[in-house]
Amino acid sequence: MSVKNEYNKRVVIVIASIAATGGLLFGFDTGVISGAIPFLQDFFELTDSQIENLTALGLIGAVVGALVTGRITDYLGRKKVILASAFIFATGAIWTGLAPTVTQLMISRFYLGLAIGVSSFAVPLYISEISPTKIRGTLVSMFQLLITVGILVAYLSDNAFADNSNLESWRPMLLVGVIPAVVLFVGMFFLPETPRWLMSKGHEEEGEKVLRRVEDPSLIDNSMVAMRRDLAIDANQAGFREIFKPWLRNALIIAMGIMFFQQFVGINTVIYYSPKIFLAAGFEGAEAAIAASVIVGAVNVFFTIVSLFVIDKLGRRKLYFIGLSGIAIALVGMGLGFMLPGAGKWFLVVSMLVYIAFFAISLGPLGWLIITEVFPTRVRGLGSSIGSLSNWGFNTLVVWTFYKMASAIGSAKDVVVPEGSDLSDICPGCVGSVFWIFAFVALVGLVWGYFYIPETKGVSLEQIEEHWRQGKKPRHLKK
Ligand code: BGC
Repeated sequence: MSVKNEYNKRVVIVIASIAATGGLLFGFDTGVISGAIPFLQDFFELTDSQIENLTALGLIGAVVGALVTGRITDYLGRKKVILASAFIFATGAIWTGLAPTVTQLMISRFYLGLAIGVSSFAVPLYISEISPTKIRGTLVSMFQLLITVGILVAYLSDNAFADNSNLESWRPMLLVGVIPAVVLFVGMFFLPETPRWLMSKGHEEEGEKVLRRVEDPSLIDNSMVAMRRDLAIDANQAGFREIFKPWLRNALIIAMGIMFFQQFVGINTVIYYSPKIFLAAGFEGAEAAIAASVIVGAVNVFFTIVSLFVIDKLGRRKLYFIGLSGIAIALVGMGLGFMLPGAGKWFLVVSMLVYIAFFAISLGPLGWLIITEVFPTRVRGLGSSIGSLSNWGFNTLVVWTFYKMASAIGSAKDVVVPEGSDLSDICPGCVGSVFWIFAFVALVGLVWGYFYIPETKGVSLEQIEEHWRQGKKPRHLKK
């Protein structure tokens, strides 16, 4: 994490930390709903399918948010879009927390989802463009770190506010989200736009000023030359047509592919369903399950911190292969854990923690980092929003099909799954088999990664653009 100029280092860390609060909101708002659901269900007398809709509306909001704001981020700037998302986060937290009717709850959840979708690409994009090349990976990983902190805080605050004698316990759980939203809004207000976006809009002097505050002094002149050159070439190349041109095909495949594998190794079935998974594995009582979720959350945070220290040292490719191999092995272990009687539950828990640890050092941060690195400046907003969109789309698909896959395997094995039942009613072996399917996906991801994961460590964003222009392969990118 060494930067020659200590002053730069401090400024940059402050900038990245404030922006990364967007990650905290992302994690908090996706995580908080699981603890609120039992209370919402009783308070509004919701059916199971209304609960499913409520969860899905948040995800659909995120997809829509990412879909419509990509180009706006290139047009209006990264900072304004993040400010807008902070505003939606704050008002959305109040709206969901005070929602008087089910309909308002649903609409406000969708509204919050919009902010999640927007911030999930605009924040890492902002950090990536404002970071010195040398520590770009570490700083963007702070975004992932705060996602995991947000998930953990959501579990803890759900626990703290859960009061069985108060049906409205869900209200404070949701309202707490206002605090980080205000921090993001106020902090972001005082931060500069990124040098790259400023330059792309012709504000060269301002862009250079920001660059001088953040970049290693010995790299500034070269960076300015490279930025000017790329922007001159890119001048007429913004928008949808450009991004689908052959020279950017690999960038698109990489952004969508890494998000495919990030989601299809089943991360959110573990995050969202972990209490149920623990019950299905034979643990008893909701409390044990929630405590187990807190442990999952803490391991996630801890290993994301580890990733901050290694991502700019080991590089992206090594981390991807180490991480995904660990994930595949842990998934096989989880499957076995469901199938073994007795001691199986401890085997399951250990495998799940190993799984989380490997995800946290690799696919978690790498997904959000790489989507901001592979596109040229003028379409970087649009490109990373496509990455984010893929993330939310694949996420929805996996979460929706998890239960269905498990029960389909159950039916194939002639295990009767009662109507309207949930995961804990499905035969553990059937749930376990789904984890083996995820393990297979991880193996495919290893092969895909060999061809498509670029080593962007220490390479400037401008050099990456140059690499595509020359029609070179992703795996040949090197410092
Ligand atoms: C993923 C989320 C996931 C989280 C878990 C993120 O990188 O995109 O889907 O819930 O990591 O830490």
